[in-house]
Amino acid sequence: MGLLPLLKRDYGRCLHLPAHGRGAALPEDLQRLLRVRAGVWDLPELPDLGGPLERQGAVAESQRQAALMIGVQRGWYGVNGATGLLQAALLAMARPGQAVLMPRNVHRSLIQACVLGDLTPVLFDLPFMADRGHVSPPDGPWLEEVLAELPNLGVEIAAAVLIHPSYQGYATDLKPLVARLHRQGLPVLVDEAHGAHFASGVDVSLPASAVAAGADLIVHSLHKSAAGLTQSAVLWWQGDRVDPIAVERSLGWLQTTSPSALLLASCEAAIEDFFKPAGRRKLLLRLEQAKALAIRLKQFGLPLLETQDPLRLLWHTAAAGINGLDADSWLIKRGLVAELPEPGSLTFCLGLARQRGLARVMLRRWGQLVEKLGTGAPLPEFVPPPLPKLAVPFQSCGISWRASSQRLPLVDAVGRIAAELVCPYPPGIPLVIPGERLDQQRVDWLVDQQIIWGDQIPVDIAVTE
Ligand SMILES: Cc1ncc(COP(=O)(O)O)c(C=O)c1O
Repeated sequence: MGLLPLLKRDYGRCLHLPAHGRGAALPEDLQRLLRVRAGVWDLPELPDLGGPLERQGAVAESQRQAALMIGVQRGWYGVNGATGLLQAALLAMARPGQAVLMPRNVHRSLIQACVLGDLTPVLFDLPFMADRGHVSPPDGPWLEEVLAELPNLGVEIAAAVLIHPSYQGYATDLKPLVARLHRQGLPVLVDEAHGAHFASGVDVSLPASAVAAGADLIVHSLHKSAAGLTQSAVLWWQGDRVDPIAVERSLGWLQTTSPSALLLASCEAAIEDFFKPAGRRKLLLRLEQAKALAIRLKQFGLPLLETQDPLRLLWHTAAAGINGLDADSWLIKRGLVAELPEPGSLTFCLGLARQRGLARVMLRRWGQLVEKLGTGAPLPEFVPPPLPKLAVPFQSCGISWRASSQRLPLVDAVGRIAAELVCPYPPGIPLVIPGERLDQQRVDWLVDQQIIWGDQIPVDIAVTE
């Protein structure tokens, strides 16, 4: 039984989430609270406090104030991460049997919501960047092509989902996309788990937030892109396309009946931090330091990939012939802990805590890494998944997930229907979802992915009987 000592251990440079950097960038009020008698803050929904779904009480009032600060009509704090709030939001937007339009890079929580709510995910493919194996966000013409194909599918679409920014920090001008989906008659949920700081408005060079883009529901993961404790998140509502009562009913299904008062207070503190002078100064400074760090690393030859979020620093390991997962294992042993290893890159989350001397450490480690694992030539280009622009699972996700299933080696699964997600974590983006029929091309591609993702991709898969 050794969990407690692990929580105190020094892991070296933590360039992973949560963004508060092991407490260093927690809002001051919260730091003070945590220093008072241990556990004194662990309270139930006392009448004075209330909870996210109560009309009265301090939590209700705090949510009202937070919504005012962000500039939306309502907000609900969540203690089960962006995961719980995305699922509640999706279930509020579509009824069983309806379909939801979403990009291929959705987080698995949204596919799981489709299973829970008997919804059909209509997945659209995304532009692929072969030098790194990442997808980029859709632009207007791309979305137009997707929408043009919708009538051929013969399904009733109730809502649309967009991801902004991606895990790595790729973002786009969301406003025209949201407006186009609205013209199509679709309410829009934006998974802005990684972009809460865009809504702070501290730096005009950051992409505009989904809030400003007019999305109907927006989810912010406050531990990923604000100074919240792990599991803290918020769901914002604006406009008149989604019924807030439906949102509350879904939240009631999917949230615990005993939300942690500490986590709720952390939601409040993280959002307030964006609007208090000290918090704004801190965020602005971190953004400037991050931009300066990237310039310095590039000057000294470290290949970085550009994204729209300066707080995500991406080493392009493929450029030196190194798989990002191998780079990660090597670096962890040397005290440099990244957030997201992928076959072509390694994403570091710089977070909100001060990172002293990081340029020196990174340059030294990069040099050693290239010497040790570099091949002198870039990795071959990554192959995009063989998928149509728009795809509906062959059979309902929910039915396939619940069906009796058997496990088969991937290579023997051609022609069969997946009964589970295939989903490396992180990033938690499914490569296969329940209900999809696996054709030869897809299986061949998955087998190739096993080579580059290692044991993140199992050698067998559950398929329906
Ligand atoms: C794009 C995206 N959305 C949602 C989530 C879920 O967030 P949380 O960990 O706060 O539940 C993640 C987690 O990695 C994510 O990457």
